[in-house]
Amino acid sequence: MIGAIVAVSANGVIGKNGDLPWHYSEDLKRFKQLTLDSTIIMGRNTWDSLPRKPLPKRRNIVITRRGVEGVEHYTSIEEALENTDSPVWIIGGAQIYTLALPMIDTLDITYVPDIVEGENLVYFPKLDDSWKVIESSQNPTNPLIRHESLKRQPENN
Ligand SMILES: NC(=O)c1ccc[n+]([C@@H]2O[C@H](COP(=O)([O-])OP(=O)(O)OC[C@H]3O[C@@H](n4cnc5c(N)ncnc54)[C@H](OP(=O)(O)O)[C@@H]3O)[C@@H](O)[C@H]2O)c1
Repeated sequence: MIGAIVAVSANGVIGKNGDLPWHYSEDLKRFKQLTLDSTIIMGRNTWDSLPRKPLPKRRNIVITRRGVEGVEHYTSIEEALENTDSPVWIIGGAQIYTLALPMIDTLDITYVPDIVEGENLVYFPKLDDSWKVIESSQNPTNPLIRHESLKRQPENN
């Protein structure tokens, strides 16, 4: 399994000024549950944004051209994937989701109700028609948050 996991605002934003523009502990808890004991692959900016790093009980990998101290890193997602076993979660940010979309088969999207405006916004890339929602649910502790699980359909489906 190579998946990507993301939280998206009502207007498609995933980050602002290098950080998450919201804080929903119920979603962070779910993120932790889903990614525990997996390999997580992230871009350099997302690594820099983590308040505490590495994220515990997960194999943290950073994608960077410049290199980074104190964490396993590679210059491409392909190279990272060659050196990891399933399950793997791509955890952002926008640049890395964009590069990874053609390489993954599973997407876990959390929709938060916020509308995020201002400068220095980053957006989740547009999905093509090959992605189908296979499961949709409300967050059990916050009905304003919704989760969707998507799979890529084979081309001739
Ligand atoms: N809502 C969510 O679920 C979520 C999840 C994750 C992150 N975010 C947010 O997203 C924002 C960060 O996203 P971002 O798009 O700015 O950055 P990013 O994808 O986290 O990282 C970008 C960095 O990755 C490296 N990189 C990009 N393309 C590469 C390539 N082809 N080969 C090698 N390395 C490459 C470069 O690092 P070097 O400069 O070191 O070479 C680049 O500066 C933050 O605001 C963060 O809070 C949100």
